Amino acid sequence: MRDAIVLFVNGARREVRGDSAFLTLSDWLRDERRLTGTKVVCAEGDCGACTVLVGRPGGDRPWRFDPVNSCILTMAQLDGAHVLTIEAVAEREGLHEVQRAMCDSHGSQCGFCTPGFVMAMLGHFEHHPGERADRKSVANHLTGNLCRCTGYLPILDAAEDVRPEHTRSVVARHHSEAVAQTLDLATRESLQIRSEARGTILAPTTVAELVALRAARPEARIIAGNTDLGVLVNKQKLWPAGSARSALSLHLVRELDGVVVDGRSVTVGARATLGEVERALAGLVPDLSSLLRVFASPQIKNAGTLVGNVANGSPIGDTIPSLFALGAELELTSERGARWVSIERYYTGYKQTSLAADELVTRVRFTAPDPAASVFRAYKICQRRDLDISFVGAAFCLEHRDGVITAARVAYGGVGPTVLRLSEVERALVGVSLRDERAWESVAAQIEAAVSPRSDLRGSEQGRRLLSGNLFRKLGFELRGEVQQ
Ligand SMILES: Cc1cc2nc3c(=O)[nH]c(=O)nc-3n(C[C@H](O)[C@H](O)[C@H](O)COP(=O)(O)OP(=O)(O)OC[C@H]3O[C@@H](n4cnc5c(N)ncnc54)[C@H](O)[C@@H]3O)c2cc1C
Ligand code: FES
Ligand code: FES
Repeated sequence: MRDAIVLFVNGARREVRGDSAFLTLSDWLRDERRLTGTKVVCAEGDCGACTVLVGRPGGDRPWRFDPVNSCILTMAQLDGAHVLTIEAVAEREGLHEVQRAMCDSHGSQCGFCTPGFVMAMLGHFEHHPGERADRKSVANHLTGNLCRCTGYLPILDAAEDVRPEHTRSVVARHHSEAVAQTLDLATRESLQIRSEARGTILAPTTVAELVALRAARPEARIIAGNTDLGVLVNKQKLWPAGSARSALSLHLVRELDGVVVDGRSVTVGARATLGEVERALAGLVPDLSSLLRVFASPQIKNAGTLVGNVANGSPIGDTIPSLFALGAELELTSERGARWVSIERYYTGYKQTSLAADELVTRVRFTAPDPAASVFRAYKICQRRDLDISFVGAAFCLEHRDGVITAARVAYGGVGPTVLRLSEVERALVGVSLRDERAWESVAAQIEAAVSPRSDLRGSEQGRRLLSGNLFRKLGFELRGEVQQ
């Protein structure tokens, strides 16, 4: 059993032991490595000032480097990873092309957000080598970065000004096959870090070991991407300062990697990030992939997992209505074996689930709807397009023959203590034509009566009720070709 995290930072091998393993990546970089180019502003994943590139094996490509928020990642998760910070970007001869463009386009004033913007932009250019920036896709890529003084136009101008022929890969400069092999060898052994003051972090390498540890320590928090947990820790809502913690991290369990697509059947491992799911479903369930485009920010999706969204169990979790409408099942695994349960049976109340103390969610599976015989749509309503949590979400899967509905699955989030499946509405839809405006209006009214929303800071009870009906009306307009997507 290893007692040290092994990672590379800007091409150099580092080991981290004891209390330091419990720090956030940004605190460790700044306080212990004096790499203070990485800034911390919000410490909750919202502003992108702390963006660094993290590469690790697994997922949909071997060794993919992606921008992530270092303020909500815990050091233990970086075991086996290669972290690139702003200090790695400038070249011996001077500024990197992205930095040059930021200066020449006046993309920086106070400079506090600038390292985060440069790292996020680099992530984009690393994935699109040799390409000029397309303003729209760069703007989408930068939704996780806030600037309070320069404004976004000069920053987008800078991205457009980056010359591909002058843009050298920062990853290629610092990463190599030898680094990958060193990390691979070092992380074949499980990790156990104990600290008198801070607690215990365990990271097994196999599912068998994972479930044995889960049985032995049912109180241990499971850590997947840490995007929900990291915010709670920073706000001291979980493990207040000074308290000991016990955590079980999934980051070494490669069996739980990736999205497996076999024909129309899709299985998502507990380690698959939301970014991987978005890419894997683009051609298969395009509406869910598009919904993921407005999920959080690229930085959050590069760390957060689909299973974490499901396991967190918030009634406004963006992916959950879609998984209800797709008839998804969850694999719950313990030392006693694995069982598949329908996602609806998993939730028993507000953030309550039927997961036993010795179980964890290992996979999600569903069948992608056949577009020739069904309609699948997913919607998210929030107060701003980017980086906002929905106040109402809905998903519909309508099977039809010759345009007449033969079976329906209808699910709403944000209108009850859990995501709701509206069975009576589904029954009422059978036999209805996809283009029958009058029947559609009566079902919309039925939906407004069936949901049970509450008023809170995000929206009123009446607003949520009306939106629930209106999302179904919107689907009707779309199906009748009366609205452009
Ligand atoms: C800035 C920001 C923006 C966000 N925007 C959105 C948004 O637009 N929409 C949205 O829905 N969410 C959003 N979130 C919430 C979060 O990113 C998602 O819920 C994400 O999917 C969580 O995944 P994770 O892997 O990071 O989970 P973690 O934080 O690692 O875990 C979340 C919870 O699930 C448990 N858990 C994790 N894996 C398992 C498992 N395999 N078995 C059992 N329990 C498990 C953990 O113990 C924890 O209680 C946002 C968060 C932040 C910080
Ligand atoms: S400091 Fe704001 S996202 Fe990390
Ligand atoms: S340059 Fe000041 S916050 Fe962006």
